[in-house]
Amino acid sequence: MQKILRLKDLPDPGSARLSFAGDNYGHGACVVRRGDEVFAYLNRCPHTGGPMDWVEGRFLSVDGDLIQCSLHGALFRIQDGRCLSGPCAGQYLTKMAVVLDDEVITLPDSDPETGSFS
Ligand code: FES
Repeated sequence: MQKILRLKDLPDPGSARLSFAGDNYGHGACVVRRGDEVFAYLNRCPHTGGPMDWVEGRFLSVDGDLIQCSLHGALFRIQDGRCLSGPCAGQYLTKMAVVLDDEVITLPDSDPETGSFS
């Protein structure tokens, strides 16, 4: 699992799984690009707590408009992680900060659920 990603290497729309130090869960983050914006969430579905990408880094629906959990098909809004349909409708993915500096995407070195550092 990679720790940094160049914006130009992420399709628009596109997604990837990134690692970060302090990831107590071990499945990294779901990172999504839409235009010049990049969003990140803990790769942990609110339905079961499992990772959402059956194929590593593939988080988007076929049309690229929503984040889709591969296990039971829950659909999440990219901008805020709210589940719009599926078994966890109304719940949210855990949002993470994204650092986009000189076209390079990185994540903070902490667990977004506990805030603890490794
Ligand atoms: S684990 Fe994500 S929808 Fe069930």
